[in-house]
Amino acid sequence: MNYTIHHVKSIDSTNTFLKELAKQGAPEGYVLVADEQTGGRGRLGRNFFSPSGGLYASILVRPSFALSPAVLTCMTAVAVSDTISSFGETCSIKWVNDIYCRNGKAGGILVEGAVTPAGLYEYVVIGIGLNLSMPSTIPSDLRNIITSVFDNKTDAAFRDSFLQGLLISFRRYYETLPTISFWKKYCDLQNCYGRKVSFTQDGRTYTGIAESIDNEFRLIVRAGSSLFSLERGEVNFLL
Ligand code: BTN
Repeated sequence: MNYTIHHVKSIDSTNTFLKELAKQGAPEGYVLVADEQTGGRGRLGRNFFSPSGGLYASILVRPSFALSPAVLTCMTAVAVSDTISSFGETCSIKWVNDIYCRNGKAGGILVEGAVTPAGLYEYVVIGIGLNLSMPSTIPSDLRNIITSVFDNKTDAAFRDSFLQGLLISFRRYYETLPTISFWKKYCDLQNCYGRKVSFTQDGRTYTGIAESIDNEFRLIVRAGSSLFSLERGEVNFLL
């Protein structure tokens, strides 16, 4: 995969825009990066706060084989973790897509695509949002939730070298698909094992202990005598 990187100052959402370009035939490897997003989006219909100083990038891929979106989400999370480590920091992953640093959420991944009638992808857009440094003003509802990867990395030059590293790591894993060479790393990066979590399934809320990740990237949670394999949604930490 060859990358073509396009940079914009401000956009509503790099994912939204890149999906439009994908429909018009943009090639695999097209990367859109923005200094800020005015309508950044997260999973589960949430907003993603995207002031300048962060990394907001979307990568277009066109896999030629069937693949679950979870595989691409988890693969990207491991590529992000590799890159953070290569710049001297560490992170953990809160299943399925949240990047945690120092006990707070420092970023996330949003995978969106279109599937052909044959069940293959027409395109997939993989959005990555990371607070590289702490924003100077944070909305009050996020103040106790978000954190940053680094203490003081606000310049675009750093953002660009971080993105370069991330794209190299991403490609290394992407080119081994459908082999999930990153599965063990993804499992080892989880921050929820042994923790009490709540989750909702079919309209009911359950409480249990997160145990492991299976080979389809489902989170296994023990709730009383039942074992749940969570495929989608999220868990909330209770302790
Ligand atoms: C999440 O936390 O649920 C996922 C956040 C993903 C944010 C990134 S920023 C680049 C891309 N464009 C978006 O609108 N969202 C993703």
